[in-house]
Amino acid sequence: MSARDPLDAVVVGGGVIGLSIGWRAACSGLAVAVIDPTPGHGSTWAAAGMLGPVGEAHFGEDRLALLNVAAARQWPAFARDLEEASNRAIGYVASGTVLAAMDASDRRVIDDVLTFQTDLGLSPRRLSSRECRELEPLLSPGVVGGAEFPDDHQVDNRLIVDALLAASDRSGVTVIIDEVSAVNSKDGRVTGVTLRNGGTLDSGAVVVAAGCWSGGLGGLPHQVIPPVRPVKGLTLRVRASKGTPVLTRIVRGLVHGKSCYLVPREDGTVVIGATMEEKGFDLTVQVGSVHDLLRDARAVIPAIDEYELIETTTGLRPGSPDNAPLIGRTSMEGLFMATGHYRNGILLAPVTADAVVSLLDGKGVSDVIGSFGPDRFDSQQVGPPSGPVGVGT
Ligand code: FAD
Ligand code: GLY
Repeated sequence: MSARDPLDAVVVGGGVIGLSIGWRAACSGLAVAVIDPTPGHGSTWAAAGMLGPVGEAHFGEDRLALLNVAAARQWPAFARDLEEASNRAIGYVASGTVLAAMDASDRRVIDDVLTFQTDLGLSPRRLSSRECRELEPLLSPGVVGGAEFPDDHQVDNRLIVDALLAASDRSGVTVIIDEVSAVNSKDGRVTGVTLRNGGTLDSGAVVVAAGCWSGGLGGLPHQVIPPVRPVKGLTLRVRASKGTPVLTRIVRGLVHGKSCYLVPREDGTVVIGATMEEKGFDLTVQVGSVHDLLRDARAVIPAIDEYELIETTTGLRPGSPDNAPLIGRTSMEGLFMATGHYRNGILLAPVTADAVVSLLDGKGVSDVIGSFGPDRFDSQQVGPPSGPVGVGT
C-alpha cells in the first residue's frame, strides 16, 4: 500500500501505542502512515488488558501512578469513541479488581502497599478474608485477606487491535506492512524513513512507537536512542468448560511473595499472568514458567483446575530505566518518542496518543505527562538494544 502524499507524520510501530497515535492523528486532520510488519502482534498481543492504576501503583513510582490514574479516567470516552469509529466492541468492562493474600506475610505486604496508595490519594479498600470471598466466590478458602480496587477495570487488548485497524482504515490512516530500517535526517532535521523492503517515505515528523525494539532503529543519533529493553512476560489463556463456575471480576493474587493475576473475559476465557523475565529478546515458552504461573493461579482460584488450557503466549514489555514511558519531542527536530510503556501500555494508550497528537499539532502537553519526556535520559544512554522484530507465541 502506498501512503497519501505528502505525509504529516510517519509512526514507526503499530502496537496499541502506534495504532492509537495514528488513529487519533488522522481524526485531528493529519495525513499519517503507520508502519509495522505485524501490527498488533508485539507486547500488545500478549497483554492481559488490565486498566489498573491502583493495582499497578508501586513504591517510588508516585508520578507514574498519577499518570496511570489520569489515563484510566480517559478510558471510558476512548472506548466509546473507538467502538463508534470502528463499529466493533472492544470488551471494556468496569468490573473492578480484588487482590488476595495467601499468607500472613503477603497480607503485611498488601497493608504496606495500601498505605502507600492511600497516601497518593488512590482509593483501595482493605478486605477481610470473608469480604474477599463475598466479592469473588471462587477465591480459595485459604485467602487470609486482601483489598478491593473498585476503579481497576479491563479491556480486551486483542479486540482493541482489530478495532484500531478498522478505525484507522475508516479515518484514512495508511497502514504499511513493512519494517522501518532507518529514520532519515538532514542537517539535524527528520526527513522520513527508509523501509526494509526498499523505498523511502518522506515526512517532517516521525514518531518512534516500536515498543522494546525502539532503540534498535537505524539512523538515530546516539543522544536520542531511547534506553528501552525487552522484559519478557508469559500469559496463559484458559477457558471454563460448560457448567464450570466463572470468575466475576479481575483477581490479583500475592502467593507467598509472588504476584499473579486472572482476568475473566466476556467470552468465557480467562487470561492468567504474568512472568517478569530479563532474558533479552527471547520469546521461548518455558515449562517451568508455565508451571509456576499455574501453581500460583490455582492457589488463588482452585476452580481453574477444571478449565481447559487453550494458549500460552509470551511478549516483550518495553521496559525503561524508571519503569515509566518516554513520550514527547527529542532533541532531533521532527523526531518524537512514544515508547517504554512497560507494564501499562494498554492503560496508557489514550493519554499517549492525545499527547503525541497535540505535539504534532505544535501544541503542548499537560503537566501530568510533561515530565515523561525522553530528554530525562539524555545523559544515561547505554547503547542500542537489537533483536528480531518478534511475534508472541
Ligand atoms: P508493542 O505492542 O510491542 O508494539 C511494537 C510494534 O512495533 C510491534 O508490533 C512491532 O512489530 C513493531 N516494530 C518493531 N520494530 C519495528 C520497525 N523497525 N519498523 C516497524 N515496526 C516495528 N499493559 C497494560 O496496560 N495492562 C495489562 O494488563 C498488561 N499486561 C501485560 C502482560 C504481559 C505478559 C505483557 C508482555 C505486557 C503487558 N502489558 C500490559 C504491557 C503492554 O502490553 C505494553 O506496554 C504495550 O503493549 C506496549 O505497546 P507498544 O505499542 O509500545 O509495543
Ligand atoms: N500489567 C501487567 C503485566 O505487565 O503483566
